[in-house]
Amino acid sequence: MKTYLVTGGAGFIGSNYIHYMFKKYGNNIKIINVDALTYAGNPENLKEVENKDNYEFIRADICDKEAISKIFENNDIDRVVHFAAESHVDRSIRNPEVFVQTNVLGTAVMLNCAKSAWELEDGSFKPDKKFLHVSTDEVYGSLEEDGEYFYETTPYAPHSPYSASKAGSDMLVKAYMDTYHFPANITNCSNNYGPYQFPEKLIPLIINNALQGKNLPVYGDGKNVRDWLYVEDHAKAIDMVQEKGKLFETYNVGGHNEKQNIEIINIIIETLQEMLPENDPRKKLVSKDLITYVEDRKGHDRRYAIAPDKIKAEIGWEPEIMFKEGIRLTIQWFFENEDWMKNVTSGEYQKYYTDMYSGK
Ligand code: NAD
Ligand code: TYD
Repeated sequence: MKTYLVTGGAGFIGSNYIHYMFKKYGNNIKIINVDALTYAGNPENLKEVENKDNYEFIRADICDKEAISKIFENNDIDRVVHFAAESHVDRSIRNPEVFVQTNVLGTAVMLNCAKSAWELEDGSFKPDKKFLHVSTDEVYGSLEEDGEYFYETTPYAPHSPYSASKAGSDMLVKAYMDTYHFPANITNCSNNYGPYQFPEKLIPLIINNALQGKNLPVYGDGKNVRDWLYVEDHAKAIDMVQEKGKLFETYNVGGHNEKQNIEIINIIIETLQEMLPENDPRKKLVSKDLITYVEDRKGHDRRYAIAPDKIKAEIGWEPEIMFKEGIRLTIQWFFENEDWMKNVTSGEYQKYYTDMYSGK
């Protein structure tokens, strides 16, 4: 039975990954989820699994060397899947330092603790130990309106403090692989959407605001392009890379689904109107009149577009859930989980779990 150490598993992608892994492997794996529960971490995302015997939650900061090395000492970890990060570009523009702290220094701690636990006396590593670093396409910088794509060989050119800190963390992982032959992979994925996404990111923010008849803020001209992937397809890609990928390689993961922000917003409004029943009072609130153009984000990257050719050719991964279906699944999930959204937007989720995990 393999033991996974997942960092940042109480966040958006990490929690979807944990659900995916338990769905796929059942009781044949153990997952230890280490998360600091920042504003972005919400153990409510994992309430269906929290009582499982093969799941353990540890509240700790990945920058805390002692806490992380203790987890490696107390458990024979086979796989590390490293999601924990500060992840929102707008926050990184307002407060860059915490991004360097968690994303760069935290990754250094994770790498060092895994290396110490797995390294043998001759400098080689115990067999079948693997570290997967979850990163972003934003490290490659910005593309022109069309034509080019990001490949694994595209030089790094990050612009925001978020993408610069993720680029720094990727470089550290590469340095560990090159210097120590440390058994790792990196995945660079495009924008994700789906259940449990925190409503500061475009898609959940638009769904939540539209249902309340609030303004839908569009940065700049609304023509910036992102390449959207349903989160479960990302979870599947991570598992496939770790089990079938070549060690020391980077794999780009993308949905082949490029859309301008304004297109995304229009699709969300149209889908909400289709899905809401006639007698639902929110149906009257949802309208394209809510679209409000606002000041552009500083240094706003124009276009991201992943070429997922390598992961398809070497591993056989392809996105399974196309945007039309994925956005319906996402909206349906938000309809069925109104309390989740209320707890998140009111801040209640933080109070409850902060008390619970600090033993109050
Ligand atoms: P998120 O912000 O929803 O979750 C991050 C999680 O990490 C939270 O649970 C938070 O509590 C935890 N965390 C933050 N700082 C920590 C620390 N110092 N110690 C321990 N835990 C800490 O982020 P997400 O959207 O789920 O992204 C997860 C990973 O995937 C990140 O590394 C991100 O760069 C990468 N990624 C995200 C996207 C996307 O579209 N969201 C796309 C590609 C890659
Ligand atoms: P976001 O979800 O923050 O992801 P990222 O910046 O990592 O790509 O933003 C996606 C796109 O949507 C990005 O071009 C910025 C834009 N955006 C808006 O136009 N309005 C908003 O309120 C937000 C949050 C984002």
